[in-house]
Amino acid sequence: MTSPRHDGPVVHDWAVVPLAGTDFDPVPHRLLHEEPVARVRLPHGEGHAWLVTRYEDVKQITADPRMSRALTVGRPITSMTPHTLAPPGGVGRADPPDHTRLRKLLAPTFGRRRMTALRAHTERTAGMLARRTHDAGPPTDLAETFIGPLATTVVAELLGVPAADLGRVEHWRARLLRHDTTATEGESVKKEIAGYFADLARQRADYPADDLISELAAARATGGISTPELVSTAVMLTLNGLDAVRNIVATMVYVLLVHPDQTGKLRGDLDRLPRAVDELLRFVPQRNGVGMPRVATTDVEVGGVTVRAGEAVYVFYPAANRDPAVYTDPDRLDLGRDEAPHLAFGHGAHYCAGAQLARMEAEVMLATLLTRFPGLALAEPPDRIAWRTGTVNRGPETLPVTW
Ligand code: HEM
Repeated sequence: MTSPRHDGPVVHDWAVVPLAGTDFDPVPHRLLHEEPVARVRLPHGEGHAWLVTRYEDVKQITADPRMSRALTVGRPITSMTPHTLAPPGGVGRADPPDHTRLRKLLAPTFGRRRMTALRAHTERTAGMLARRTHDAGPPTDLAETFIGPLATTVVAELLGVPAADLGRVEHWRARLLRHDTTATEGESVKKEIAGYFADLARQRADYPADDLISELAAARATGGISTPELVSTAVMLTLNGLDAVRNIVATMVYVLLVHPDQTGKLRGDLDRLPRAVDELLRFVPQRNGVGMPRVATTDVEVGGVTVRAGEAVYVFYPAANRDPAVYTDPDRLDLGRDEAPHLAFGHGAHYCAGAQLARMEAEVMLATLLTRFPGLALAEPPDRIAWRTGTVNRGPETLPVTW
């Protein structure tokens, strides 16, 4: 649906339609090909915003210091959800110098040394979960018995969320990440999460452990981070660590199982796995709708369009990953593809802080499944798999498999 405007191009209505499997959302797909910088109106918020879909344009906008996240705070910008997922103050909604300071605090946690140690721990947990799943026998819901629990354990380990509290965290995640959660409900859940992390940080300030919350609590004691920043950052890490990884890896496994020829070749040469994971990250449309906008601090030219100072701009990374100017036959999965780096983890200053972690988790999970379950297959025909709708991240409701 489009509607003409008196003062410029048409505004495209971008509804949240239920999508199955790896079906690409038709609105951004069409705009990528027909109107790569377009005006869109999303289901919530007010007015309209720009949507940028081409690879080079997306890179330009996300690397441009004139595009602000801090200016999105408190503005009713047209959006996918009635409430903003990330509370103000966290990395996602800060500009330099605050953003730079916060990312520096996170850097050691997600750095190479910590990741190497965490990989060994992840491999052990994956081995244990795979054994348990195998012993229980087929069929099983792999998202429930293997992928979800692994993602939860890893992020809890990193942050320092005690195992006994994981149920609560899981409950918040489920409530927050639904599109039909009202603004009031969303605010009340965020308040609960914020209270939880504020308490945890207080405990860790007195009894520090080897985890991120302890590091952030220590930084707060010396004025390196404020309490709202600490809480907001912890919330963002928890939501991404649990939900993004669970949904994307489950979708990756689905994609592998519906491409048995390519998967067979991969199984025979697991050295190709890192490249295959990158192709899966490029190919999997990770989310329903679009994430957080940016606001132009001054007039900015992009793709032949002038974005005026004060206007909101969304980039859509999954569309950039399907740009035919960059990828040959972009809508086709090619596990051996060796083209431009994908933008699934974003680009520029707000590039995903957990990218190395997510990639490591995906590699460990896929390697474990491919080696321990040589006969792995979907237990239902692909078109019988139910997909999450009304959620931020896309993924299967359940992933029934057999072997
Ligand atoms: C496969 C899984 C994941 C994908 C596809 C993904 C993707 C993304 C994307 C597209 C962004 C936004 C970039 C932007 O704002 O322009 C982002 C930001 C972020 N992600 Fe991830 N992410 C994943 C997993 C994780 C994990 C496991 C964590 C940490 C536990 C994490 C932490 C973050 C943080 C903190 C930010 C905000 C960074 C900033 O604004 O400076 N992500 N991620």
